[in-house]
Amino acid sequence: RSVLVRSSSSAKQSLLRRSFSSSVPERKVAILGAAGGIGQPLALLMKLNPLVSSLSLFDIANTPGVAADVGHINTRSEVVGYMGDDELAKALEGADLVIIPAGVPRKPGMTRDDLFNINAGIVKNLCSAIAKYCPHALVNMISNPVNSTVPIAAEIFKKAGMYDEKKLFGVTTLDVVRAKTFYAGKANVPVAEVNVPVIGGHAGVTILPLFSQVTSLAQTVATPQANLSADVLTALTKRTQDGGTEVVEAKAGKGSATLSMAYAGALFADACLKGLNGVPDVVECSYVQSTITELPFFASKVRLGKNGVEEVLDLGPLSDFEKQGLEALKPELKSSIEKGVKFANQ
Ligand code: NAD
Ligand code: LMR
Repeated sequence: RSVLVRSSSSAKQSLLRRSFSSSVPERKVAILGAAGGIGQPLALLMKLNPLVSSLSLFDIANTPGVAADVGHINTRSEVVGYMGDDELAKALEGADLVIIPAGVPRKPGMTRDDLFNINAGIVKNLCSAIAKYCPHALVNMISNPVNSTVPIAAEIFKKAGMYDEKKLFGVTTLDVVRAKTFYAGKANVPVAEVNVPVIGGHAGVTILPLFSQVTSLAQTVATPQANLSADVLTALTKRTQDGGTEVVEAKAGKGSATLSMAYAGALFADACLKGLNGVPDVVECSYVQSTITELPFFASKVRLGKNGVEEVLDLGPLSDFEKQGLEALKPELKSSIEKGVKFANQ
């Protein structure tokens, strides 16, 4: 049932691909849940990424069609679709990076934790297979509740004896993407120039944007947050925390964020690949094993390198409002972590 779709058939294109590959390392990226709402646009975006040489698309259904479709795009990577558990091993073998958007999304009225009962089991099985077939791969966890699925993955990897905390990432990039968009809209600054760290976790109050640390790439925005009132910063924080719910409600029962998530997932995967390839100073926020607070997993700025996490960066100075937010998020994040650990060990 695997579908191999070569992006080009001519010898000339093959030769071009080989000469390109000689300067850019070969990288296999596997997407688990590749036929889903996130999986499909993420497959498209990863097919457009020149750092990828092999794109492996796995799902329990519908991957042949997605692979055939994406595979016709005339970019570097070869695309192979794999369907069903029998093909999971082949999908994973040799992967440098595994991205996991497998599992059910929220409907209006649900919390991310309401997805735990179904998604925890899916993540557990997929991580057991990763431990077996590509134990050295970086793992980008998108499946919710991220605050628990990352600890589940860590426990499964520990049981398999291959856990490397530098290689496991909860993808919180969508929170950063939202914080930048919402901030730029209110502060009336060019959105492409703005950066906002987002720390904590990925659910409601555990998402804590640090608007006091907004920076501008072009240095055109000097201490930009100074122009915004406390009320506006509170509203921006709340909108960032509720960004997922805003999309769930707008989709009215047809799922949660898929397109913006695919964009965010592709950004984070690209940063991981750049790190693997030795590009210096690649820094993104991610939910990782951490010692910067008393919680064992925490999202903050992370420097990416050849082995994954090179450095978990300090939180930096927080405003009083952010200090309160940090204390307020800890109980929920702690209990979500413990829930994941308990599930994986039962
Ligand atoms: P979806 O239902 O559209 O797609 C999920 C896909 O997973 C489906 O194609 C399904 O067949 C597949 N799947 C189910 N079990 C599987 C298994 N065992 N192995 C492989 N594939 C399997 O859902 P979606 O909108 O793509 O969302 C997927 C997940 O991502 C949800 O849990 C959602 O909450 C989460 N999400 C996270 C973020 C984030 O910021 N981290 C953002 C948006 C969505
Ligand atoms: C998001 O932030 O959009 C995702 O976590 C999906 C959701 O359920 O909100």
